[in-house]
Amino acid sequence: MRRPRTLSQSPSQDAVLRSVPLGRSDARVGPIGLGTWQAGDDTWGPDVNDADCAAALAEGGRLGLNLIDTAENYGRGHAEEVVGSAVRQAGRRQLFVATKVSEHHLHPEDVVKACRGSLRRLGLRQIDLYQLHWTDPYDQVPLRRTMKALEMLQRDGLVGQIGVSNFAVRDLEEARSALSRTDIVSDQVQYNILHRDVEEEVLPYCRRERISVLAYSPLARGLLTGKYSVGHLPQDAVRVSAVLFRPRNLQRMAALLGEMRALGRLHARPMAHVALAWLRSRPGVIPIPGVKRPAQTAELAAAASLQLSPGEVRSLDHLSSNLALDTF
Ligand SMILES: NC(=O)c1ccc[n+]([C@@H]2O[C@H](COP(=O)([O-])OP(=O)(O)OC[C@H]3O[C@@H](n4cnc5c(N)ncnc54)[C@H](OP(=O)(O)O)[C@@H]3O)[C@@H](O)[C@H]2O)c1
Repeated sequence: MRRPRTLSQSPSQDAVLRSVPLGRSDARVGPIGLGTWQAGDDTWGPDVNDADCAAALAEGGRLGLNLIDTAENYGRGHAEEVVGSAVRQAGRRQLFVATKVSEHHLHPEDVVKACRGSLRRLGLRQIDLYQLHWTDPYDQVPLRRTMKALEMLQRDGLVGQIGVSNFAVRDLEEARSALSRTDIVSDQVQYNILHRDVEEEVLPYCRRERISVLAYSPLARGLLTGKYSVGHLPQDAVRVSAVLFRPRNLQRMAALLGEMRALGRLHARPMAHVALAWLRSRPGVIPIPGVKRPAQTAELAAAASLQLSPGEVRSLDHLSSNLALDTF
């Protein structure tokens, strides 16, 4: 079993970046994590390069954003190699590494093979958190068999904690019922102020069961930083045709984005801080924004000290509750 990893940080950072528990486990991680889909290849734009991405993640270790989320899928394993490089730069104990087994590797023998491949690319002996990326798209491998394989990996010390991703409550219940000596610590789901579906069932369930929610796309792929608008849209492969960035959607969210910008001004913060503070007002939620360079990490670390008042959260809740955005 893995030893609990603690954040090493200066007293001033301690005051701001208080670590949070990961599920019911004894592991604690930074209040904001860092995502690495961006590090896989150039699908997130020509400004992506390995050196900057690795430095951005290593910087996370220095600043207390130690939870790094990656996946064997991102750039066909390349993002894991970049994470490995960050681990070598930062030092093993400074980063808490979470990766994911693909939905195409759900047979028990494939899970073991995938795990070994991830360990090799990451240059690690143990993955701190191993997540099941998606449930079986073909409905061929019973979930219980995959979960048992994950449990074996934990027993053998190849993974520290087990998590899942994109799981609804019924999937969470089925997955947990297959585990006899451990429990899952996290469900990684899309969650931001523009996508609140998980609030209906997943969030209350996870809160009750003390399962951490890792919120992916917490900045709505950069939209909630306020840097994109109808006249200035991202041109990379991931976002160029994303429905979220369509003019009609941007019009519908204009009042909400305006309020977020105004709150940012009031607190003398960038809008991204407001987006992350809104998520962090939900207990048990750990946002994992994707980063490309160290300056972005530094700005995200500063976001951890912003706390919105209950009235501010209510006003954002209200403005975001009936957006009726186009989804396809
Ligand atoms: N489990 C899953 O199925 C799943 C799915 C999607 C994502 N994820 C994970 O979640 C992570 C985050 O989600 P995401 O990448 O979809 O979206 P996101 O975190 O909402 O947005 C990422 C984008 O935000 C911008 N950004 C980040 N920090 C910034 C800063 N300080 N200042 C200004 N802009 C900043 C960057 O945009 P620019 O490119 O414009 O600089 C970056 O590419 C991924 O990296 C991945 O690890 C998991």
